[in-house]
Amino acid sequence: MKVLVTGGAGFIGSNFIRLILQKYPEYHIVNLDKLTYAGNLDNLSDIEDNPHYQFVKGDITDSDLVDRILEEGADAIIHFAAESHVDRSLYDPGIFVKTNVLGTQVLLESALKYKIGSFIQVSTDEVYGSLSHEGSSTESSPLLPNSPYSASKASADLLVRSYHVTFGLPAIITRCTNNYGPYQFPEKLISLFITNALTNLSLPIYGDGLYVRDWIYVEDHCRALDKILHRGKAGEIYNIGGGNEKTNLEITRLILSKLNKPESLVKHVKDRPAHDRRYSLDCSKIGAELGWKPETAFEEGIARTVEWYASHQSWWQKVKSGEYLEYYEKHYLYR
Ligand code: NAD
Ligand code: DAU
Repeated sequence: MKVLVTGGAGFIGSNFIRLILQKYPEYHIVNLDKLTYAGNLDNLSDIEDNPHYQFVKGDITDSDLVDRILEEGADAIIHFAAESHVDRSLYDPGIFVKTNVLGTQVLLESALKYKIGSFIQVSTDEVYGSLSHEGSSTESSPLLPNSPYSASKASADLLVRSYHVTFGLPAIITRCTNNYGPYQFPEKLISLFITNALTNLSLPIYGDGLYVRDWIYVEDHCRALDKILHRGKAGEIYNIGGGNEKTNLEITRLILSKLNKPESLVKHVKDRPAHDRRYSLDCSKIGAELGWKPETAFEEGIARTVEWYASHQSWWQKVKSGEYLEYYEKHYLYR
């Protein structure tokens, strides 16, 4: 099988490529990635010489480039490439629309032209919007995105749906909860807080810290995508979640205790505008239809993650320099 992975130099995409090449060494992967601030070839340095792996530096909005890649043939596209950080979407929504909406449409058009057998849109639970303290979103819940990030992902999902309904493109949408694990850019809660704590920097908690996310270990998400690649049904949507709903304060205290760091590192800062209170997914469909369930208990996943960042300091210290520091200097709005 030949698979085009977009955004494979990012967090989830790089974990996915590694899993696929380990499990199916005969498969061919083409990784199309623009290498934005979040794309990092170090994430895949262990497989860069694998003859079954090819990296193409480029933008998914470049339709000529996407056509040239798909002209060579591909059985499936797994579309990870995106601007993925909610905070950044508050400062610069335009790039989210360009990459997440227009980029997805360019890929859909080319997938149709070259009759690609399966298009998998890697989306997010955030498209369902914020929930109060109870209930979970199913695949048929309404789309109520609140941030430019989630609105751009919801828009892309609707385009994917329309290409399936109107043109018969065999497309599937997946919606996953918050991922954590190795190779996550240190701007998201868990990767930021572990790396800050390791260097005794403060951990900025937005608002009261009682916001709830459902956390999934990245390998479990990748295993779900593997199932969907091989057995998912065109036209369907699959929710994917870890079953670990935690408040941000619970996560923060766990990280501090694992690293033996003091609570005094916690700093309560101004809240994120339009901060979604809680996300929660009903994941019974993927369990019943594809036999997938998460395998990593939260305690085990967080222990592995803390250990990974503690033993890969050169990876994140390189990332947390230059452009990264300039960005944090400039956007200190609610810290
Ligand atoms: P990430 O920010 O770590 O990686 C994104 C990758 O896309 C980077 O390698 C970047 O260089 C690349 N990219 C960005 N713009 C591009 C463009 N125009 N052309 C080509 N490549 C481009 O993101 P992630 O956390 O790995 O998320 C991957 C996907 O999964 C995203 O679509 C995101 O919406 C979705 N998702 C993420 C989570 C999560 O918790 N991280 C949860 C659910 C869904
Ligand atoms: O739910 C899936 C989504 O999870 C993905 O689609 C997004 O790509 C991903 O970025 C993530 O979005 P969140 O906004 O939920 O993740 P983030 O790690 O930015 O924030 C998690 C929670 O922690 C949220 O309530 C905001 C809070 N937070 C975050 C940061 C970075 C803080 O309190 N302080 C922080 O410094």
